[in-house]
Amino acid sequence: MAGGAIVNPGGGKEYPGKLTLFVFLTCVVAATGGLIFGYDIGISGGVTSMDSFLEKFFPEVYRKEKKDTSTNQYCKFDSQLLTTFTSSLYLAALIASFLASAVTTVFGRKWSMFGGGLVFLVGAALNGAARNIFMLILGRILLGIGVGFANQSVPVYLSEMAPAHLRGMLNIGFQLMITVGILAANLINYGTSKINGGWGWRISLALAAVPAGIITLGALFLPDTPNSLIERGHPQEAKEMLRRIRGTDDVHEEYNDLVAASEESKLVKHPWANVIRRKYRPQLTMAILIPIFQQLTGINVIMFYAPVLFKTIGFGDNASLMSAVITGLVNVFSTLVSVFTVDKLGRRKLFLQGGFQMILCQIIVGTLIVIKLGTSGEGHFSKTYAAFMVFFICVYVAGFAWSWGPLGWLVPSEIFPLEIRSAGQSINVSVNMLFTFVIAQAFLAMLCHMKFGLFYFFAGWVVIMTTFVALFLPETKNVPIEEMILVWKAHWFWSKFISDDDIHVGNVEMSNGSKSKSVV
Ligand code: BGC
Repeated sequence: MAGGAIVNPGGGKEYPGKLTLFVFLTCVVAATGGLIFGYDIGISGGVTSMDSFLEKFFPEVYRKEKKDTSTNQYCKFDSQLLTTFTSSLYLAALIASFLASAVTTVFGRKWSMFGGGLVFLVGAALNGAARNIFMLILGRILLGIGVGFANQSVPVYLSEMAPAHLRGMLNIGFQLMITVGILAANLINYGTSKINGGWGWRISLALAAVPAGIITLGALFLPDTPNSLIERGHPQEAKEMLRRIRGTDDVHEEYNDLVAASEESKLVKHPWANVIRRKYRPQLTMAILIPIFQQLTGINVIMFYAPVLFKTIGFGDNASLMSAVITGLVNVFSTLVSVFTVDKLGRRKLFLQGGFQMILCQIIVGTLIVIKLGTSGEGHFSKTYAAFMVFFICVYVAGFAWSWGPLGWLVPSEIFPLEIRSAGQSINVSVNMLFTFVIAQAFLAMLCHMKFGLFYFFAGWVVIMTTFVALFLPETKNVPIEEMILVWKAHWFWSKFISDDDIHVGNVEMSNGSKSKSVV
């Protein structure tokens, strides 16, 4: 690796070059991969709250909801089949993300995005035309495969294209597109639910083809990342690409680092066996815990089931979908806050502040529900009371949108050394999908059994994860990926997992001016 770099957590080595229009545009196009994930998250909640959809595919849930008005509000929608519709996608995405990791390595990132978009298109067509539950779930599995491929390749693509000091901002473009996808889905559901004739849900499901078309077409025009070109044996093209995306001819240092990192990574023959070695324990812990924690914030209770949830607390159909649109808007605009602050304030401050905000709001919302619905689930909300609830749910969503939302994808993607980066990314995506699945599958049953306590349950988890971040997550802002190991080495707890011999970041100076290990 090139020498002479200064590394200190909070400010790192800088390669020459600027944010070129070219790299900005490629990142925008690649980030649209987040649209398909977001559209899925948003669409199922609205569709499963539409009477015509329930009547056609889930007649029992429909009957229970309509005829048995005296029933406990908390349990109206509890149906395993209904949750399978929402959650089957995430199981498919989990499995697909492992396959995608191989495709991403062998054929490059863009073909993973292209393939994902294409499979997603077929899924959208199948769902829009669904005649029975089988077509519906098969379509959703295909959508899941698309999401698995996109979520595996897009964050890697963005991190590799971005200049180090803007890595946070450009990576969060992915999360921003997720939130735009969710909002678009909520708006579309709002519109299609008003269509007379009971086929509005078909439009909602079929319109998933639009974001799929965008990423499929977009991927065709995307250039490959320099890292991927080097990895696949095209060094000259890689160098030219680096010049183009950095807007300067002075790319030797960065190029040499990429080549060195790629060579070092080739020495590791079995990344999956390596990832469990003691020296990678800090990164492995984060790749498993961060996605678990992200889902245990309870965000998807709002994202998947906002309309159902708002119905539960007594809103009419229209008001339920409208509230989903409002939370969707808050989600998009609050994500922008992290786009502009993540490389300045750093990751930890956003995690901690967002965590406190979520805990407070969850306790307030749980308490507001218990005051009105009690444990029996019988009761009614006045307009003002309901508006209060929506307000606190929005403040909660905002807290998530500038902390665990974007950082749940960014941090795991930036902490792995290259030799185990692809394995680490697969672990992150699959654990995220597994827990998304678990929450989606369990939510309606949890609401029925835990009632308002569900909100306290998630608040408890946010207390745990916020404490965890405070104690165990070091700041990674502006630290070049190749030197990330020094951050762990300087940490009070993780340092004991890393011996001096494990530090192979050649010729790097610590912030106090002393030299660390030299080139290996
Ligand atoms: C999470 C999703 C969530 C979304 C909400 C993403 O980062 O992975 O599970 O629905 O944020 O904006």
